[in-house]
Amino acid sequence: FKVNIDPAAADKGAYPYYMLKEIDEQPAVMRRIQGKYLDNNEPKFDAKLIKQLTDATKLYIVGAGTSYHAGLVGKKLFEKLAKTPTEVVVASEFAYDDPIIEDGAMFIFLSQSGETADSRQVLVRATNEWKVPTLTITNVDNSTLAREADNAVTLEAGPEIAVASTKAYTAQIAVEVLLATAVGRIKDITAAKEIDLNEQFSQTANAMQVVVDEKDQIQKIAEDNLAKTRNAFYIGRGLDYNVALEASLKLKEISYIQAEGFAAGELKHGTIALIEKGTPVIGIITQAATADNTRSNLQEVLSRGANVINIVREGLAKDGDQIIIPSVDEIMMPLVSVVVGQLMAYYATLLRGYNVDQPRNLAKSVTVE
Ligand code: G6P
Repeated sequence: FKVNIDPAAADKGAYPYYMLKEIDEQPAVMRRIQGKYLDNNEPKFDAKLIKQLTDATKLYIVGAGTSYHAGLVGKKLFEKLAKTPTEVVVASEFAYDDPIIEDGAMFIFLSQSGETADSRQVLVRATNEWKVPTLTITNVDNSTLAREADNAVTLEAGPEIAVASTKAYTAQIAVEVLLATAVGRIKDITAAKEIDLNEQFSQTANAMQVVVDEKDQIQKIAEDNLAKTRNAFYIGRGLDYNVALEASLKLKEISYIQAEGFAAGELKHGTIALIEKGTPVIGIITQAATADNTRSNLQEVLSRGANVINIVREGLAKDGDQIIIPSVDEIMMPLVSVVVGQLMAYYATLLRGYNVDQPRNLAKSVTVE
């Protein structure tokens, strides 16, 4: 097991915790990815890789933890921008499943460390048993997964030291946007032809910067709503649901608040029974098509006593919304909204007096199945 760490890049400098430094670095990571993988507004990757991805009639995205959550967003990106049917799977489950792998399938492995044993187990089967093309997207160069796959793309997020993954997640999504657009443009898909990548990446970096510059406001909301609670919910629909899962994972893994992410419309089919007076329910609203529905779901929990906090993008905001984030193309919104969730988790943890960077029971890289 080897980690390539540049000591200067891994220095936390004036920051109290690596996690805060890594959250703050995200606008710079977006610009780095833009610089490395975009040329004249065209995605720039190895031609053989793009051909394999374009020829694929079905994609599988494999990951664990936060990387799995980035895969959930990736499914929507590949289906929208490239119109390639995509399935996202939890590595530890899929490793021992008995799936029907169709001809034309290709596997994408998302892993910050490139060392996760669960994901590697699927890679071994993909290579030896299913004999399909493989791509790994990892943050650590020359990792086990990167070496063993047919293709490897690096995330360029720089060393991520805090156990809770932040900038690797946003970097994974950014790279997925670029890969899906590259494929979609070859397939002549309108959404891929129309997206102005340079513009979107610049706007996204700026929007992330606005969020990190407004930390104090997020700290205050965490203080008022999360410092003392035992449990909390994030809800949303579509991409907002995917971010709800990631934001709640951040919160639970470091603050030990029992936090769950739910599809906003599914809450009423059971989980709403858990809502009590004062239960924090954080709604994420960045997608116009589902904004009203999510608002109705928030109304349902509000009337049962929940303490509702809204994270809404500009343009969809209404009076009374607490956290208003800048708008970028809707498919890029997870990159902005998740930063709020990361900061909420960070401050909730500080307020509760725990070590942000080293939560109990967790390891940065899990090399056992
Ligand atoms: C561990 C970490 C998580 C991470 C997961 C997958 O459980 O604690 O933060 O998301 O592994 O790691 P990977 O390196 O494969 O992205």
